Amino acid sequence: LRVGVMVSGGGTNLQAILDAVDAGKITNAEIAVVISNNPGAYALERAKKHGVEALCISPKDYESRDAFNEAFLAKVDEYHLDLIVLAGFLVKIPAAMIEKYEHKIINIHPSLIPSFCGVGYYGLKVHEAALARGVKVTGATVHFVDSGMDTGPIILQKAVEVQEGDTPEVLQRRVMEQAEWKLLPQAIDLIANGKIK
Ligand code: GRF
Repeated sequence: LRVGVMVSGGGTNLQAILDAVDAGKITNAEIAVVISNNPGAYALERAKKHGVEALCISPKDYESRDAFNEAFLAKVDEYHLDLIVLAGFLVKIPAAMIEKYEHKIINIHPSLIPSFCGVGYYGLKVHEAALARGVKVTGATVHFVDSGMDTGPIILQKAVEVQEGDTPEVLQRRVMEQAEWKLLPQAIDLIANGKIK
């Protein structure tokens, strides 16, 4: 399975994927390319250190969003990917790409969807909202990407305990360590081995 990973930030989810491939926890898959919209994303360094092709393409480099969307899709098509993994990717996937790669794009979201998701719920904001609501359990979700925001069919979820005195940063780290970094490699391995319909 040829996999492309889309990133915008630190790339800890990407790192979990790369480590899982090395450890044989993901089989029948190769990470063919890492694409970021952010030239400063440390995720790009992680890819390069691992010998994976890494490139940056940003809406800021284009006259219009339509021009970016067209260039983004054309660039992705060059890699003949079987699966696109959004790992902390903060750019909306163009409708044309959703259609062309239907059921071939997955996303990791740091909450138990349908809680704390949708427009405006990303990164630390997700955990701030969970703490503000006072939930005792949160977690992470891997789902297929459809035309909505965090609305596609759910593939895997894992619950994580909220602890007394948690700050958003502490909670985010626990959700990453205990859920995100386990679920995303697991989902890729399941898909690569024909276990997901
Ligand atoms: C984090 O907020 C994570 O919860 C979400 O994407 C953000 C960046 O993660 N999935 P990463 O370290 O770039 O993988």
